Amino acid sequence: MSEEQLTISQIYAKGKEKLEEIGYKRVFPPDSGTDASVLANRTFLDAIFFRTKFFNPVKVDTDITLFGVKLRTPIFCSPMSGFNRLSSTALIDIAIGLKNAGSLLMLGIGGSDELQRAIDTGVPVVKIIKPYQKTELIYEKLRDAEDRGCVAVGMDIDHFYGALRDGKVVMTDLFGPQRTEMLQQLISSTKLPFIIKGVLSVQDAQEAVRLKASAIIVSSHGSSSIDFAVPSVVALPDIIKAVGNEVTVFIDTGFKTGSDVLKALAMGAKAVGFAGSMLLAWGAGESGGVENLINQMTAELSRTMAATGCPNLKAIDNSIIVQLPAKL
Ligand SMILES: Cc1cc2nc3c(=O)[nH]c(=O)nc-3n(C[C@H](O)[C@H](O)[C@H](O)COP(=O)(O)O)c2cc1C
Repeated sequence: MSEEQLTISQIYAKGKEKLEEIGYKRVFPPDSGTDASVLANRTFLDAIFFRTKFFNPVKVDTDITLFGVKLRTPIFCSPMSGFNRLSSTALIDIAIGLKNAGSLLMLGIGGSDELQRAIDTGVPVVKIIKPYQKTELIYEKLRDAEDRGCVAVGMDIDHFYGALRDGKVVMTDLFGPQRTEMLQQLISSTKLPFIIKGVLSVQDAQEAVRLKASAIIVSSHGSSSIDFAVPSVVALPDIIKAVGNEVTVFIDTGFKTGSDVLKALAMGAKAVGFAGSMLLAWGAGESGGVENLINQMTAELSRTMAATGCPNLKAIDNSIIVQLPAKL
């Protein structure tokens, strides 16, 4: 069977096999202590169902413009790092797969060379900078991202107190709390759209709006910020209610399919990030695997949009979903 013909679940199964074979453990199992937050996200997503509208069929368009770039899908690659642990070409393979699928790449920790190599593939790149204790380093990374042609920048504020890995808190000497004034200055110092990643409360979402962030990513960092962070899907509705008209809201953590994406869009998110899944797709077929996964998820999204009477992303709202009480 060729890469193109693998289904979404076959891509994940094949990718898992490959990643295990090369001894890469950071996708399954997850990084954190209990992983309760990611599991609850799954449970909540699985309790959402679609109201179908089969009369008056619509033709569907999944195009979206983000940060001035026209994309063919509201599915993007959430920021990642450490691609060399997979292979020396993994980052470029993933970037090419995303580009071919009309998607966007966010990058996390990593140097200028890596950033440049990704940009050189032609994929639109967003740099998410770590909340470094050294403010100079944050500005250095921001200027570097601007100079190299990133379409947006941002910060994952949820790693202020180090990262949670395998039940241990790591990198506490590197990351630290950022003063609000410092973030305000940082955001106003760039012409690029600024994204705050790791928002899970209405208060943080409102603060991001006040600091003039262009977008927020509702995310629990795949449970690697704190254990038992509010699952992002649970946090989303209140955040949309509070700031949905003032800032672009993205979401990630635990999404797996095109139907999952439509559920998040129906709850008010503008686009959905996938991280671990992109690594599995790489394992299943390198750049072709990534392209195939995004194409398959976008096709599933498109088909379900048609079945719920949504001709384009703007037409999606929460009238197309029914949420049953999630059995936790
Ligand atoms: C290998 C790996 C590296 C990551 N590195 C970063 C990073 O540098 N910065 C960041 O903001 N998030 C990072 N993340 C978190 C992802 O952006 C994302 O929030 C999280 O994995 C949840 O999405 P998922 O369930 O689709 O994997 C990383 C995730 C993975 C799997």
